[in-house]
Amino acid sequence: MSAPGARSVALRGAGQILRPPRVGLPWLRGADLAAQTLTGGDLGWSDGVLSEGPLRSADLELDVPGCAVVPGFVDCHTHLPFAGWRADEYAQRLAGVPYNEIAAGGGGIRASARALAAASDQQVLAQARDMAVEMLAAGTTTFEMKSGYGLSREGEIRALRLAAAFALSVPQTTLSTALLAHAVPDGYDAAGWMHEVGEMMGEVLDLGSVSALDIFVETIAFSVSDLAAMGALARAGGLMLRTHVEQFERLGSVPVALTAGARSVDHLSVASDDDVALLADAACAAVLLPAAEFLGAEHRAPGRVLADAGALVVLATDANPGTAPVVSMPVVIGLAARLYGLSPMETLAACTLNAAWTLGLEATLGSIEPGKRADVLVLDSPVESIAYRFGRNPVAVAFVGGDPVYVRDDWADRLGVHS
Ligand code: NIG
Ligand code: FE
Repeated sequence: MSAPGARSVALRGAGQILRPPRVGLPWLRGADLAAQTLTGGDLGWSDGVLSEGPLRSADLELDVPGCAVVPGFVDCHTHLPFAGWRADEYAQRLAGVPYNEIAAGGGGIRASARALAAASDQQVLAQARDMAVEMLAAGTTTFEMKSGYGLSREGEIRALRLAAAFALSVPQTTLSTALLAHAVPDGYDAAGWMHEVGEMMGEVLDLGSVSALDIFVETIAFSVSDLAAMGALARAGGLMLRTHVEQFERLGSVPVALTAGARSVDHLSVASDDDVALLADAACAAVLLPAAEFLGAEHRAPGRVLADAGALVVLATDANPGTAPVVSMPVVIGLAARLYGLSPMETLAACTLNAAWTLGLEATLGSIEPGKRADVLVLDSPVESIAYRFGRNPVAVAFVGGDPVYVRDDWADRLGVHS
């Protein structure tokens, strides 16, 4: 349910408003994490842009006592759009069959590739739209989406075209990543497929919708030398490099990713002390995916150690039909608090400004500061409740670009929403 747009909005009497310690920060790490503030009061914006001070009057006035006001969540790692689910595999994994064995038997990424090939564009887009609705209701106002279930040149281009079409149909801001090396397609070895990836780069760039490349570095997928090659392709194409590294087996991918200029190293479930030391002051995000770790009984990334070392810690869902059929950032926050021992401030920075930096969007969104886009959530309870009341969704209203694009039913009257 959404309310009609208002040119100016004033939130009055919030219990908490989450703000960075200073304006203009590209990210929050080290001492800046705990220096975020939660002082309550008023917040306003006009024409979708956050104001310097409180507005004296506004088209929409909303009393939010007892509520927390936070930036919209940025989910910087999802595998949308995809086709169908893989609940059968989850049952196998619960019974103890490892992910790698399922993948080796033709399941995993290959199973989703078959499902994508068999689904019509309309079916794929309809499933993705349903998920975007759920994501918005859970506070995700920006998300990234990856291809990677195409597993052929034509399949990957189709997946990227579907992502571009999907982007136009949702209220959220979206970014498209070409995960061109996800599983080695049938009929190729890794080197042969990487050659094909090089050949298809012109077509990928011509789409004009792709902002990053990605690669899955794992014994069942691609190697660290393929990672270096993907970095070269990203540089040549003027794209960011995202990476799936150190998820199941330790391959030493982090130094290679950093040399390749990666914007982020994602998963890190089996990262080493040396990796932590490298990430401590790197301009590279450590994207942790606790839902995949929890549901897959995977190793646990050294989240606490990374935060203490000063790394740029980020949280995301990894929403995909295999390892993480999860779209809720509040759930991810709850998992990260428990699994890594992160504080409420740390978890929030990790899925707002730090996630925006990961996508290259930190100048315009990701934090509550004057001049930024009014992507803002009203939570019905203090920020400490997100992790504590685990699994509960506290989002009452989500504003994107200043407009109330999601209003929970029990808040409809206050916003003058009629269904
Ligand atoms: O991020 N690790 C590789 N890719 C996905 C899983 C994809 C799948 O199983 O469909 C991930 O966990
Ligand atoms: Fe992933």
